[in-house]
Amino acid sequence: MQTIVKKLNKEKNYKASVYLINDCKQLPLSQFSEEELHFISYQHDELEKEMILLPKIERIIMIQFFKNEGESYKINEKCRKSGDKIASFLNENKIASVLITDCCENQFAAYCLAEGMALGNYQFIKYKTEQKSNSLQEIYIDSTQINKLQYEHLNILTDAVYKCRNLVNEPLTFLDAVSFSEIITQMAKDANVKVDVFNKTKIESLKMGGLIAVNRGSIDPPTFSVLEWKPKEHKNTKPFVFVGKGVVYDTGGVNIKPGDSMLDMKCDMGGAAAVVCAIYAIAKAKLPIHVVGLIPSTDNRPDGNAYVPGDVITMFTGKTVEIMNTDAEGRLILADALGYASKYQPELVIDLATLTGAASRAIGPYGIVAMHANAETEFDNLKNSGQNVYERLAEFPFWEEYGELIKSDVADIKNLGGSEAGMITAGKFLQEFTDYPFIHLDIAGPVFLSKKDSYRGKAATGVGVRLLFDFILSKI
Ligand code: BES
Ligand code: MN
Ligand code: ZN
Repeated sequence: MQTIVKKLNKEKNYKASVYLINDCKQLPLSQFSEEELHFISYQHDELEKEMILLPKIERIIMIQFFKNEGESYKINEKCRKSGDKIASFLNENKIASVLITDCCENQFAAYCLAEGMALGNYQFIKYKTEQKSNSLQEIYIDSTQINKLQYEHLNILTDAVYKCRNLVNEPLTFLDAVSFSEIITQMAKDANVKVDVFNKTKIESLKMGGLIAVNRGSIDPPTFSVLEWKPKEHKNTKPFVFVGKGVVYDTGGVNIKPGDSMLDMKCDMGGAAAVVCAIYAIAKAKLPIHVVGLIPSTDNRPDGNAYVPGDVITMFTGKTVEIMNTDAEGRLILADALGYASKYQPELVIDLATLTGAASRAIGPYGIVAMHANAETEFDNLKNSGQNVYERLAEFPFWEEYGELIKSDVADIKNLGGSEAGMITAGKFLQEFTDYPFIHLDIAGPVFLSKKDSYRGKAATGVGVRLLFDFILSKI
């Protein structure tokens, strides 16, 4: 169930209360005794505690300190992390609703505290026969810093991130390419987004050779979903197009993944889920920007008819590709979508993909590996959004020389570079199918976590949703 954030309701009797401050002097004196204020100062000044619990019988009172020092995006992230800790504590104490009283003048602190609480309160328990749901359901805020629109955006985003995490956490038994496209269709309808799903026949008639090749080893058909949010009064003349890798399961194909490396590969549609849920949020918030989403989807399996190394395939754009490794499948399905994106004459195309283990090895789960071609200014804007939502971009070089590594003897290009710079040669492969400003985001690192990381949780994080939303919000 979604955790809801609301403006203070004065009638309500809160069983738990959080005071957000940077200095003891900010505490409302009417609500605390002198003894209590002493206790709080002692705990903070002497014991250096950031979160202080006031012993009271009738209700839980917490004082959350934060330092108003340093770059504001780092302060915001600290507040989100504090929010996650508070949510855990409230759940341990079976509290259903909490009031945050914002005693400081920081523009985003209360918003981020609530955001961390709401996102940290996510659970994926549908497959547990004994479901232990978190008690926390409602977060109320008393703050002059948050307006009506921000409350709305926060709730829309929490919902969208929860939906994204659900999609990524769902196993293949539940989410194959067809059922994924059905959920996409339902979400689009809920948000008034235009949706069109291409079936296998249509995909074949469009000659999407990459998507067809990867799908050949599967018993389930591929899908290609097109989402379009084009409100009447949109501000951009050319659309922003988002492309998401929708591999619902990646076994590697006949180059089967060894050992445990296949274990988490239900997360290989994390880029697609982020694109779908970001557009869902953008439309729910009615942001006046024309946005298109393209989702090629299939599983990647070995079977009697599976594609094999040595095959040469012809892509949507007509370019030929020599298959070197069937586990480099993401770039093949994305290439067809990127080729298809041209027809929109886009302002910018951003793709999100769990594309390479190399990206994950390079920077771990702490950020997104990013490259761009002819999109200098927009890249800076996206980087800025990355700091706002703490889904930071790490820019990698995109030099021509890397393009040399994917030249093929028999076809135009091959689907594998050398042993070095795998995340970059994968990006270079994608660039071959673009003729517009292009940003490539490899989210293999942060998409699915092996251990809990604060409000991002364990397993699916929903990375990309808040990033794309913030980027589009900045266009208004
Ligand atoms: N889906 C994987 C990449 C991946 C790895 C995502 C770890 C999330 C976590 C991708 O399709 C893949 O298999 N990439 C290969 C590419 C190689 C064959 C060039 C890889 O990274 O090993
Ligand atoms: Mn693969
Ligand atoms: Zn993959």
